[in-house]
Formats: sequence, structure tokens, C-alpha cells
Amino acid sequence: MTVLNDPLNILLVGDGKEDRELISKRFELYGNMRLWAAESLEEARTILSQSNPDLAIVDYEMPDGKGIDILKAKRRKKYPVVLMTDRDDEDKAVNALKSGAFEYIIKSSDTLHNLPRIAERAFLKWEQVNHRKKSEEKLKRQYEQLQKINKELDHLVYSTAHDLRGPLLSVLGLINISRGESAGPSQLKYLDMMEKCIKKLDEHVVNISNYSKNNRLELKVTEVNPNRMISEVIQNHSFLENFSRIRMDIKIQNTYPLYTDESRLRTILGNLVFNAINYHDYDQKDPFIMIHFIVGKNKYQIDITDNGRGIAPFHLDKIFEMFYRGTEASQGSGLGLYIVKETVNKLKGKIRVRSFLKTGSRFTVVIPNRSTD
Ligand SMILES: Nc1ncnc2c1ncn2[C@@H]1O[C@H](COP(=O)(O)OP(=O)(O)O)[C@@H](O)[C@H]1O
Ligand SMILES: [Mg+2]
Repeated sequence: MTVLNDPLNILLVGDGKEDRELISKRFELYGNMRLWAAESLEEARTILSQSNPDLAIVDYEMPDGKGIDILKAKRRKKYPVVLMTDRDDEDKAVNALKSGAFEYIIKSSDTLHNLPRIAERAFLKWEQVNHRKKSEEKLKRQYEQLQKINKELDHLVYSTAHDLRGPLLSVLGLINISRGESAGPSQLKYLDMMEKCIKKLDEHVVNISNYSKNNRLELKVTEVNPNRMISEVIQNHSFLENFSRIRMDIKIQNTYPLYTDESRLRTILGNLVFNAINYHDYDQKDPFIMIHFIVGKNKYQIDITDNGRGIAPFHLDKIFEMFYRGTEASQGSGLGLYIVKETVNKLKGKIRVRSFLKTGSRFTVVIPNRSTD
């Protein structure tokens, strides 16, 4: 018995009168199928010009041409073609499938007997294949659209960050000019405060633009001097409140030359140092930040340890998420560590953190040294 709900319209193209009659009978018995029989390709074409079959069963050889030529006939809807041949012939089978037949069967009393079931199965398989193809095409279109949106967003982020920086740097310049122009002590204090605010804002803007660069740009590996890199990163944060109260303890072991993407490494270290300073505990005697930089042959490791306020276990596994802020003290956007993680990933490195509340934190990054590439 059929498993289909709607009747199937089947076009049968074959020149053997007896076969056609046998097949018609089988279909009648099976039920739920309408058979249109044609004894020549010409007759088949006439049928096709008036109606759409759901499936065609076609003899390989017809008196007026090859059965598969039926596919060349004008048709309003695609349908699967099942080709029948008299005996097993692999070449024919391969050719038939190449020229667009959906399936290939060898005529025998058994197959003729079971033809309605064979047709039904072929039709269901065809529907499945079509459905899968459509879903794949839809997925592909969606993927391409997402990629386009992603690219546009990246570009927007980058150009916005770039456009914001210009005016910020101008304000910094103006603050410097104002300092020179007979400013009184309280004005100088305000100018200092303004400068700090602008520098903080600029750091955010640079960070965001680095994030979009990290996505878009390929790695640029050069030899990097770890000593210079660390002093630059620290110097860049000397404007931060309380900076002068921190004892910086720096150890660098570089027996091997360091090859890495300098700008990405600066983004990583900049954010970690920025956080270590921001989330420190200044009520204690000896607030310190320890930076330990070891360059090995195949990888390099940087530990940034502070004895600051630490991170509660509850927050610890979330701090690398986008926009996650673990404390009221955060004046940031919760992007810093997300950017760090993305950048470390791009360098094929790993980052981990150990932290205890009211004790301190240690961030460890391990990144391949590209010197051996
Ligand atoms: N060195 C640190 N000491 C204590 N807490 C930290 C430290 N670094 C990061 N954190 C915590 O992780 C959170 C996420 O950091 P981050 O992604 O840089 O965002 P933001 O600094 O903008 O809040 C911070 O809000 C803070 O709670
Ligand atoms: Mg931060």
C-alpha cells in the first residue's frame, strides 16, 4: 500500500505493449497513482506539454530516440526520471545518471512487478534530496549574508573609532597649550583631570579599533624587544590615578629572540596592565604588579600578577565574556578581557587566570614564538 497522501502522476514511456499493460495493471492495483502511458518520445512530449508528472519511468531505448532525451522536452516543473534497460549494463547506467536520470533499474519480471513501489520510493528520495538541497542553499545564502554584515560592522566599528580619535587628540593638544598660558593652580588641576579623562577615553577608542583590526587583519610577525614593549605599555598607563603608588616588579628572560605580532601583543598587555592598575587595592602597604616575561624557543609566557582586590569565584569564569563587568569599580565597558581573549586566540595562544578575593590575581598568557616558523 502507498504511503503517500496525494496521488502520484506518473508518466510511463515504453514501446513494449505487453510491458505497458502489465505495468498499468500493477499501478492500478497499488492505488493512489495515476499512470499516463506513452509509446513513443513524441507522444511523451505531447503529454508533457499539457501536464506535469511527479515522476517519469522511461525505457532506455525508444524507437524515436534515447529515453533520457525526454529530459530535453519543455517542462514546467522538475521531476525525477527513472530509466529502465533490458539488461545489466554499467556504462549505460553511468551515462544515464550523468545525463540527468535520477535512478536506473534493470527490467525483470520482479522489477516490473514492484514498479509502483520502486516509483514511490524514488519519488520520496527525490523529495528528500530536493529538500536537503534547498536547505543547504538557504544556509549558504544566510552564511554569506552574515559574513557581509559582519564585515560591514567591523568596518563601522573601525571607522567610528578612527573618527573619534582625531578630535580627542586635538583636545589633548589644546589642554597642553592651555597649560602654558598663565593658568592658575586650580585651572592646572582641572586641566590635569581633563587630560586623564581624555586619555582614558582614548584608550577605550584605541582598544575598540584594535579589536576590529584583530578580526580583519592578518598576523604581522616581526622581532619584538620585550624590554621595550613592557616599558612602553607601562609608560602608556602612567597617567592613571594611583599609578605612582604601585611598585612595578619586572623580570624578563629572553634567551631566544621573540617573534610575534607586536601590535596584538601590545593590545593584550595593555589591557592586562590597565586592569591590574584599575582593580588594585590601594589601602594596603605595598601594592605591586609583577610582570614576568619568559621567551622560550617555541613559545613565550607572560605572567601578570597583582596583589589587588582579586576576583570572586562566581565572576571568574565569566570575565572573558563580551561586556562582562565583575565589579562596581569598573568604569569600563567590560570589553577589555574579551578583546584580550580574542587577540590571544588569533595568536593561537592560551590565557588563564587565577585569582582570590582580597588577595590578588595572576593572568598567564602563553603564545607560540614564531622564530622557528
Ligand atoms: N587584575 C584584576 N583584578 C581584579 N579584577 C579584575 C582584574 N582584571 C579584570 N578584573 C575583573 O574582570 C572584569 C572584566 O574585565 P574587563 O573585560 O577588562 O572589563 P572592564 O575593565 O571594562 O570592567 C572587571 O570588571 C573586573 O571585575
Ligand atoms: Mg578592563
